[in-house]
Amino acid sequence: MRLQNKVAIITGSATGIGQGIAARFASEGAMVVVDYVGKPGTADQTLNLIKQAGGKAIAIESDVSNPVQVQQMIDGTIKAFGKLDIFVNNAGIEYKHPFTEFPLEQVQKIIAVNLIGPFLCCQAAARQMIKQGNGGRLINISSVHEDLPMPTNAAYCATKGALRMLTRTIAVELAAHQITVNNIGPGAIFTPIDADVEANPDLEKALMAEIPLGRWGKPQDIAGMATFLASEDGAYCTGATFFVDGGMMRQAGSL
Ligand code: BGC
Repeated sequence: MRLQNKVAIITGSATGIGQGIAARFASEGAMVVVDYVGKPGTADQTLNLIKQAGGKAIAIESDVSNPVQVQQMIDGTIKAFGKLDIFVNNAGIEYKHPFTEFPLEQVQKIIAVNLIGPFLCCQAAARQMIKQGNGGRLINISSVHEDLPMPTNAAYCATKGALRMLTRTIAVELAAHQITVNNIGPGAIFTPIDADVEANPDLEKALMAEIPLGRWGKPQDIAGMATFLASEDGAYCTGATFFVDGGMMRQAGSL
C-alpha cells in the first residue's frame, strides 16, 4: 500500500482516467474524494468500485471553474477526512472544430474547465496544504497536446499548453512549502472523451498509426504514474511533465 492514510481529491472522477486514478488510489490505502458534476448518482459507479474493493471514498459535486464550489469541495474533504494530501486535476473537456469555425462559447467553456479549473483547484489545495504544514502533491492531467499540435483541437491544445506553464511556474513557487506540482501527459487513452474516434474505424486506424506501441492506453496506465507521483517514490519530482503515451510524442511520422 503506497498511499496509506493519505487523503486525495480527484476531479472529474466519475468516469474515464479520473475513475481509474480514484480506484487505484483507494486500493493503495488512500481516502478518496470523487468530484463530479451532474445529477446525484453520477459518481456511484466509481464509489461502488472502490467500496467493493474495501476502499474508502465519498463523492462531492463541484464545478472546478467555480471558486465557491471548489472551496466547498476542500472544506467537505477536511470535514470528512481531516486533511488533504493529494489533489489531482483530472476534469477536462474537448470539442473539435476547424479553427476558423470555432464557436466562442465552446472556447470559453474549454478554458473554464481545462485551465481556470486547475488554476483555482491548485490555489485552494495549496492554501490548505500550506496551512497543514506537511507539504503535498498537486498532479495535473494534461495531454501530449501540451506540446503536440492537433488540427481541429485549437482550444483544447491551448489550455493544455497553458497548463504546462502553470505547473512549471507554481512548482517553483510552492517548492518552499514542500508541495510538488507535476503534469501527466496522457496520449490516446480509451475513455469517453474519444468516443468519436472509438466509434469510427478509419479515425481509429489513423490514430493507431501515430502510436509506436500501436494500441490505446488504459486509465490504469495513467493511474500507475499518478500513484508514483503521489507516493514517497515521487517525492523528488517537481515542475515536470511525465508522458504516458505509447511513444506518441516520439513518432517520427516517416512510416
Ligand atoms: C485527446 C484525445 C486524443 C489524444 C491523442 C488526448 O489529449 O483528448 O482526443 O486522441 O490526446 O491525440
